[in-house]
Amino acid sequence: MGLFKRKDLLGLRNVEKEEIKTLLETAVPMRDIITRAIKKVPALKGKAIVNVFYENSTRTSTSFELAGKYLSADTINLSVSRSSVQKGESLKDTIKTIEMMGADILVMRHPSSGAPHYVARNTSARVINAGDGINEHPTQALLDMYSILRHKGTLEGLKIAIVGDILHSRVARSNIFGLSKFGCELRVIGPSTLIPSNIEKLGVKVYSNLESGLRDVDIINVLRIQKERQQGVLFPSVDEYQELYMVTPRHLDLAADDAIVLHPGPMNRGIEISTELAESPRCLVNEQVTNGVAVRMAILYLMLGGGKDEITY
Ligand code: CP
Repeated sequence: MGLFKRKDLLGLRNVEKEEIKTLLETAVPMRDIITRAIKKVPALKGKAIVNVFYENSTRTSTSFELAGKYLSADTINLSVSRSSVQKGESLKDTIKTIEMMGADILVMRHPSSGAPHYVARNTSARVINAGDGINEHPTQALLDMYSILRHKGTLEGLKIAIVGDILHSRVARSNIFGLSKFGCELRVIGPSTLIPSNIEKLGVKVYSNLESGLRDVDIINVLRIQKERQQGVLFPSVDEYQELYMVTPRHLDLAADDAIVLHPGPMNRGIEISTELAESPRCLVNEQVTNGVAVRMAILYLMLGGGKDEITY
C-alpha cells in the first residue's frame, strides 16, 4: 500500500499531524530533485497515474503530471471535454474504465463536493482529491504548509490570516484543517456574505475588517474571488471589494515584520491582491508553484510505495 497508509488522500480533516509531517519532510528531497539538471529518478517506474479533471486547472493538473514524470511513473491526463463523459457516461463508469486500464492512482478534480469520496468507494485505485467543489483541496494546503515551513522553519503556533472568499474556498477549508493541528492562530477575513456561518466552530477567529485581522500576523494567505461559484451577488461591486479587501503593501506593514504572503493562484490582480504586492519578494505565489511539484511528488511517492533509497543517489 505504500508508506502513506491510507488508500486515498481526500482531505486534511481526518489526516493525522504525524502523517502531514511525513508528507512535508518527504517533499524536501523531492524539491532537490526538481532543481537538478536532470529531473528524473526511477522511484515510481512502472506505476500509472491518471489525472481526471472535470474542472479547469493549470497548476494542480500540470504539477501532478510533472511530479509523476519526474518520478518515472506513466502519467496521462483524461481530457474530460473530449471524453465519453460528453456522451453521457456516468462518473462511476468512467472511473471503472480507467481503473481497468491499470491506473494505480486517480488524481481527481470535480465541481461537486464529495465526488472524489464517491469515486474512492467505487474503485480499487487510490484516489487523490485535487479539489472538490467547496469542500477540500488537500494538496494545495499541503503545499501552502510546506511553503510556510520553508520560510518560517516551523508551523507551530504561527498567526495566519486567510483573506477573501472563504465561503467558496476549498483551499481555506483544507488550510484550516491542516494548520489547526499545529496550534496556529487562524483568522479568516472577508465580507460577512463570504464567510460561512458557524466557521468559528473550526477554531478560527472571524474579522470583517481587513486592517484589524492582519495586525501582527506571520502569514497572509490571499484567496481568489471565485466568481464561477457565486450564486447571485455576494458583494456590491468589484470596486467596493477592492476598496475594502484588496491586500496591498500597506496592509503587509500591519503584519509581523517578517510576514509573508501566499496566494494559491490563479490571481485576480487588482481585485484581491495588488500587482505591487503580487510582484513583491515577500509574496510567494511563484515559489508556491515549485513547492507544489515537490509536495505532489512526495504524495505520489508515499502513496505508491517507492523505497527510501530510490530518491537518493
Ligand atoms: N491553486 C490551484 O488549484 O490552481 P489551479 O486551479 O490552476 O489548479
